Amino acid sequence: MGQIFRQILPDAPALPDSVLAPMSGITDRPFRRAVRRAGGGLVVSEMIASHAVLSQIAPELAKMRFSAEEEAPLSIQLAGHDPAIMAEAAKMAEQLGASMIDINLGCPAKKVTGRMAGSALMAEPERAGQIFSAVRQAVRCPVSVKMRLGVDEHHMNAAEIATIAEQAGLCMVTIHARTRAQMYKGAARWHLAAEAVSSLCLPVLINGDICNAQDAEKALSQSGAAGIMVGRAAQGQPWLLGAIEADMAGDKTFQLPDSALRHEYIVTHLDEMMTQYGSRGLKLARKHLASYCDYLPRSEQLRTLMMRADQVGQIFAALHDYFSDADVAA
Ligand SMILES: Cc1cc2nc3c(=O)[nH]c(=O)nc-3n(C[C@H](O)[C@H](O)[C@H](O)COP(=O)(O)O)c2cc1C
Repeated sequence: MGQIFRQILPDAPALPDSVLAPMSGITDRPFRRAVRRAGGGLVVSEMIASHAVLSQIAPELAKMRFSAEEEAPLSIQLAGHDPAIMAEAAKMAEQLGASMIDINLGCPAKKVTGRMAGSALMAEPERAGQIFSAVRQAVRCPVSVKMRLGVDEHHMNAAEIATIAEQAGLCMVTIHARTRAQMYKGAARWHLAAEAVSSLCLPVLINGDICNAQDAEKALSQSGAAGIMVGRAAQGQPWLLGAIEADMAGDKTFQLPDSALRHEYIVTHLDEMMTQYGSRGLKLARKHLASYCDYLPRSEQLRTLMMRADQVGQIFAALHDYFSDADVAA
């Protein structure tokens, strides 16, 4: 591990080959910072709709608000169907300081595929190629693509699309080991990415259902990929990517955060949510707080208190009480 980004981002500090997956509504700036703080490497933004940023739609523009200084290296993920618009949005992201651009060919949501973007492009190799080339030519920074295994069981064309990406000069491919038709159903089938991996010189990240180092090792050996991308399992445990890396490297000195450090991570994350979103922060933070509870022992009461709170001070107090409990700290 630790080879992929030496070439792709030679100026960045040494980066592990485990990457935080883009997740709409989750991998915003506060969560990305939480992951980085807890030992993660490259992080990817939420998907940003290219047409919406160019039309100055405020919520989409807000997703482009990041601090290149604090967040680098950061990959900005763009979705769209129009090569020229994707190229313009990529230029904008690069000017704002993105270290990399990722092109979304994986999202199965109707609001994205209805615009023939995201995973709908798996069925349009020619259009996908035009987008790859337009974005590649528009920016100096490296460009990658995140895709699915294919459209459905009868069109498993990840190898075809990945080859087009390689020919267009992209630097890396991520494969979410499900088809578009599967959405998020069924288990990820890592072995079905092997054909695409072996047909490429480019590094491939394997993605889907990786929750620990054992999963990561299986996903890597079944697919032949060079690295992993982890999404849902990192919710509530932003230290997971660092933990997986350490486990795979046989680093016995790595320790999961103790309860004092978990408390600090959660409070800092919540604080940053409030700074980023103002009065909306409390509502938006609930999904993260609930996820943190999934990994905290005896946290039923804490969860209830935090879900019911209408003032952020009540949440800080509930967290303080919970983490002051000697049984939790033990
Ligand atoms: C809430 C949510 C939002 C997501 N948003 C995006 C997105 O914006 N762009 C993208 O390429 N994939 C998105 N995905 C897919 C993830 O990046 C990832 O491919 C998928 O969750 C499988 O990986 P996992 O099992 O590690 O979570 C999203 C997934 C979830 C659960």
